[in-house]
Amino acid sequence: MIKILGLSAGTPNGSNDCMCKEALMGAKECGAEVEFINVTQLNIKHCTGCKACVVGLFNGRGNACVIKDDLQWVIDKMLEADGIVWAAPIFEKCAPGIFHTIMDRFGPRLDRGNLMIASKIAEEKGGVAIDPRYLQEKVVTFMGIGGSDWATRIQCDFATNALTPKWTVIDNQCFPWSLSIIMNDEAVAKAHQMGVDVANAAKKIEDGTFVPGHGIYNEDYKGPAGVCPHCHSNNFYLQEDGTAVCCLCGIEGEMKNVDGKYVFEFDHEKWIPHAHDSIPGKFIHGDDIQRNEAENRGIMQSDEAKARKARYRDFIQSSKPNC
Ligand SMILES: Cc1cc2nc3c(=O)[nH]c(=O)nc-3n(C[C@H](O)[C@H](O)[C@H](O)COP(=O)(O)O)c2cc1C
Repeated sequence: MIKILGLSAGTPNGSNDCMCKEALMGAKECGAEVEFINVTQLNIKHCTGCKACVVGLFNGRGNACVIKDDLQWVIDKMLEADGIVWAAPIFEKCAPGIFHTIMDRFGPRLDRGNLMIASKIAEEKGGVAIDPRYLQEKVVTFMGIGGSDWATRIQCDFATNALTPKWTVIDNQCFPWSLSIIMNDEAVAKAHQMGVDVANAAKKIEDGTFVPGHGIYNEDYKGPAGVCPHCHSNNFYLQEDGTAVCCLCGIEGEMKNVDGKYVFEFDHEKWIPHAHDSIPGKFIHGDDIQRNEAENRGIMQSDEAKARKARYRDFIQSSKPNC
């Protein structure tokens, strides 16, 4: 039996909880076992940037996070599920802070590329084997629910979260002006269908017919086409030199207006292997980081670097509340 996990980042029993549960009802009708978690009720701390997880990964010590809170509990729930339904309120045009915190705590220890390398290291050199659940295919669907139409970054945030573990995105919807969304039959039906779609895609994982794509999309994708032909994103970083960079997959190209519609053109042979949501793209990124770390580690161990650091440490310390 497939398992679908619903995650909501809204207020308890608010619009996000309800829309997430509507999707779970759809999934249940397809035969899925469902579970629901409101992540705002959990104790989840911010990533401190210590990088102990990734150092552990590449040194055969597994991929544990040093912060002891509810994060691993919810990650285990995600790992046990075949599919995930996320509902998150739009805050400041983006996904809310709790979603970003979970996204930060995912990477780099849940990065599929890093986990593939770490598994190989553990196999060849011994050490803690990577839990195989981290490398399993999974499908995920996202709904962003807003109180207005300030919503331009939420879908890109959502897909960025799927990019780290390379889970396959089935749908990615934004519902603006949605404070009374449970009274909007069309939106409720859409949420229900999103649950059906994610369950049907999850069934393919269970029966072995699931075909993952090069990146985080495959033939099961039901979401908006978007402007980027590779990753369906509408978010681009326009550079002064005339190039445009897709904020999600990192592909660089040219943004053209053809017959009143934006068309993103790029050199496919050059850029598809670099796409940030793909395994080859992750390996390129990993190599770049390793090279950069090796170069800078030496610089930062020099007496001059240590003296500069000491200058800032000795200048002033961080203030803290008294309580
Ligand atoms: C801090 C904060 C920022 C918000 N920013 C936005 C926003 O940028 N765009 C938007 O459409 N709605 C925004 N909203 C409205 C929320 O998206 C809305 O309250 C939420 O979807 C309600 O969901 P709930 O009933 O599940 O809690 C904001 C709300 C809060 C509290």
